[in-house]
Amino acid sequence: MAHQTLNIVGCGKLGQALGRVFLAKGLIERLGICNRTIESSRRAVEFLGGGEPIESVSRLPQSKLWMIASPDDEIEKLARSMRDQADISPGDVVFHCSGALSSAVLSPVSERGALIASVHPIRSFADPAQAAERFLGTHCACEGDVAAIVILTQLFEAIGGRVFSIATEAKLLVHAGHVFASNYLVAVVECAERVYAQAGVAEVTYREFLRSLVISAAENVTTLGVTRALTGPISRGQVSLVDDQYRSVQGVSAELAKLYAALGTVAADIGERQGLPPEIVRELKAKLLK
Ligand SMILES: NC(=O)c1ccc[n+]([C@@H]2O[C@H](COP(=O)([O-])OP(=O)(O)OC[C@H]3O[C@@H](n4cnc5c(N)ncnc54)[C@H](OP(=O)(O)O)[C@@H]3O)[C@@H](O)[C@H]2O)c1
Repeated sequence: MAHQTLNIVGCGKLGQALGRVFLAKGLIERLGICNRTIESSRRAVEFLGGGEPIESVSRLPQSKLWMIASPDDEIEKLARSMRDQADISPGDVVFHCSGALSSAVLSPVSERGALIASVHPIRSFADPAQAAERFLGTHCACEGDVAAIVILTQLFEAIGGRVFSIATEAKLLVHAGHVFASNYLVAVVECAERVYAQAGVAEVTYREFLRSLVISAAENVTTLGVTRALTGPISRGQVSLVDDQYRSVQGVSAELAKLYAALGTVAADIGERQGLPPEIVRELKAKLLK
């Protein structure tokens, strides 16, 4: 695609990773960076290896593309201040990268004739350098004005993104799926760590076996599918063991026991798909939900 001009408003983890990939691919000929403070914008530019730190939205240069990659709760406010202060021209594309919010939060800049959209790259940007290196093949959920989507599809495909459309009204629910698959996976590992610690296993030891447990579970889920991936006491229908285990977790923490039970009922549904007799599934759920 032709070289583009881009402003990034809010260039933190995601903004820096994407900005680095856009520059590395030679797609952007002029890049403006505006964070809350000029010091932060300078640090972002240093990471990117290009671009110009700009102290406020009102001073950002004219640009064909405007990416808002601030925290979600700042996006609408920024869209309003961009409508009032930024050098936006009709036909410019303004987009954000939130998974939970739709492009509708950008409607203030539509009043200036901008095209609006959201592009949500479905991956973690916790480590921007690593995310930039591994961006190739990342699925990007896109919605908004059709003309904006055409331009953004070209841009994100040029960096190896796999762009697909998502219904504007489905964004929040789809994002809940990502929360389960990514954030709550982390939270579940935290639960495991708390239980190991309470049981007196040394951190250095559980870190070692956690690695193989988590990686093999993730591999099995993604290669075999959920139904074939589930193993363990619920999959084997060991009702009394599950009950004893639930009570031992409860002895450590009521909060963890609630999670053990809630996740156990979902596991029992998977067990049923694996062929557990319905009466065993009912018994398991009764023990867990009591
Ligand atoms: N992180 C992920 O894994 C991930 C994945 C997919 C989508 N996303 C989405 O990407 C977006 C950015 O997330 P992130 O994790 O990259 O956030 P982040 O690391 O917290 O970075 C946010 C950046 O926004 C800047 N900022 C905050 N308020 C601002 C304002 N009023 N004006 C200008 N800049 C402002 C901050 O600047 P200062 O440094 O000056 O405070 C910071 O550089 C969010 O919409 C998020 O939902 C994130």
